[in-house]
Amino acid sequence: MIRHLLSGADLDAATATLVLDTAAEMATVAGREVKKLPALRGRTVVNLFYEDSTRTRISFEAAAKRLSADVINFSAKGSSVAKGESLKDTALTLQAMGADAVVVRHPASGAPHRLAEWVDGSVVNAGDGTHEHPTQALLDAYTMRSRLGRLDGLHVAIVGDVLHSRVARSNVLLLSTLGAKVTLIGPPTLIPVDIAAALAPGTDVCYDLDAVLPDVDVVMMLRVQRERMGDSYFPSAREYARRYGLDGPRMRRLPEHAIVMHPGPMNRGMEITPEVADSPRSTIVEQVANGVSVRMAVLYLLLGGNNR
Ligand code: ASP
Ligand code: CP
Repeated sequence: MIRHLLSGADLDAATATLVLDTAAEMATVAGREVKKLPALRGRTVVNLFYEDSTRTRISFEAAAKRLSADVINFSAKGSSVAKGESLKDTALTLQAMGADAVVVRHPASGAPHRLAEWVDGSVVNAGDGTHEHPTQALLDAYTMRSRLGRLDGLHVAIVGDVLHSRVARSNVLLLSTLGAKVTLIGPPTLIPVDIAAALAPGTDVCYDLDAVLPDVDVVMMLRVQRERMGDSYFPSAREYARRYGLDGPRMRRLPEHAIVMHPGPMNRGMEITPEVADSPRSTIVEQVANGVSVRMAVLYLLLGGNNR
């Protein structure tokens, strides 16, 4: 097993499949009356969040607690980061407290990679800037596999603000490793030139959502990340929704078995309408639940299952 999980590219097919299979075992714990395993007793997991989060932060905390680890939640707001303390000094402080794993979300792309150079424990990237979010890709792959029975040969459309999406990057890397085909769809302003070739050859780019919908097994809608947009990348929210939003009529053009995903949080009415988000095809709530099992598997394999 690897020591850190920083990128979707850190996982080869066998390791990614091991994580997904372990997550399936972890999911059985969620159905028990006592939702706890002793696997990480005596280990310390630090959640180090420099950026807002609901799902990722809560599910890492739940995952670590279900494995009986001690959990320290650190939020940059209200900490000595506000007094100017650097990431390195914060990391060394956590190290002194005996962190076995540091789960980090940071606005700077690459911050988890630097952290991994400074701490002895494992580092898990919980989202760095516009770069990567590998556990999101794993929980997405888990959800696809459990809904559709396989990943190999699936056609996955990832739609919207690819430019600012760490979810898209990690998904392209992981899904291509696991044999799925990805088509990136969005306005030309929100799809970086050469991204497909740079991440995974075989990935397609298309600017016409309607042309691709009848041909996909999965459509993954991305949030329009206005907080990362200095410029205007499209004429108006209404125009964006008209061309790239998933609404009821578009959803009905999908093959009958196809599922609709979104990592959350959603801009309801922009990239996805409430009718679609709340439909039986939507796996959005399931993705959140699967996130706990997948993060249990990641922590277990990084900390417990590698005989370190
Ligand atoms: N929650 C995901 C992330 O942090 C997706 C998003 O914010 O749009 O990357
Ligand atoms: N999907 C996701 O990462 O959600 P949060 O930003 O709420 O953690």
